[in-house]
Amino acid sequence: MIHNVYFSARGTTKCYADLLANVLGNHEDHAWLKEEARKPLSLGRDDVLVLSMPVYGGFIPAPCLGPVKALKGDGSAAIIIAVYGNRHYDDALTQMKDLLEGQGFCVIAAAAFVAGHSIFTSVAKGRPDDVDKQAASAFASRCAWLIEDRTRWEGRGLVLPPGPGKDPSSFKGTPFHPTGDGGCTYCLRCVRTCPVHAIDPAVPTRTSDWCISCGACIEVCPVHSRAHRAEGFEVAEAAFASKCAARREAEVFFAG
Ligand SMILES: Cc1cc2nc3c(=O)[nH]c(=O)nc-3n(C[C@H](O)[C@H](O)[C@H](O)COP(=O)(O)O)c2cc1C
Repeated sequence: MIHNVYFSARGTTKCYADLLANVLGNHEDHAWLKEEARKPLSLGRDDVLVLSMPVYGGFIPAPCLGPVKALKGDGSAAIIIAVYGNRHYDDALTQMKDLLEGQGFCVIAAAAFVAGHSIFTSVAKGRPDDVDKQAASAFASRCAWLIEDRTRWEGRGLVLPPGPGKDPSSFKGTPFHPTGDGGCTYCLRCVRTCPVHAIDPAVPTRTSDWCISCGACIEVCPVHSRAHRAEGFEVAEAAFASKCAARREAEVFFAG
């Protein structure tokens, strides 16, 4: 069985994850945005894990750390994907690889794919585009070939480029948390969707400090009431957009 595990607040990580899982064949989805889906999983020797994570501050999102540590393999193949908003994926792939290899998986392929930035949405807008999807399809075909036969990857290591090597706890989140405005209809979709329960159903226009800025609430709001309105947001977005203006492309890595 192929296990398609992903955390996707604004849909781009899911887009890449599904593209790969559909090429690999029959699979079971584990959509980790919902807390109840972040359950421990034990894979058998012939099972395959596809783990796709958005990059937050150069790492996987903090709510996924515990659940990733609860994935167990038995010499099972794992394919890892980091989806990032055109700045960099830093240590995210290395973090996933090191964790999974310590838990009984053989990481046989890895990819860093670019997508529209989920906070500063003018950055990498419209991605994944056709070029990205072609790169993801080529990656998926090579992964399908690899998993057909263990001898194509068993005992062969996968090498990743070194990241900055920071401590995951060094990322303290962003100061930008979406809020609702007067158009809020109290439908509470944002409350039900928030992966960290940072929206109070009594006052859904407000957001608690522990918000991870993932943007899931913006994505599901049917009346577009939720948005980034914090002071300094537009200035920060302009500075970030000019720093990350150069188009980055997909990077892929295979065992052997
Ligand atoms: C809190 C937070 C931190 C982020 N940090 C980075 C980063 O370090 N590098 C980067 O290029 N993109 C970063 N991004 C952008 C996301 O990685 C990117 O938009 C991703 O496609 C979001 O996936 P989703 O559409 O599945 O939610 C960050 C986004 C958020 C919400």
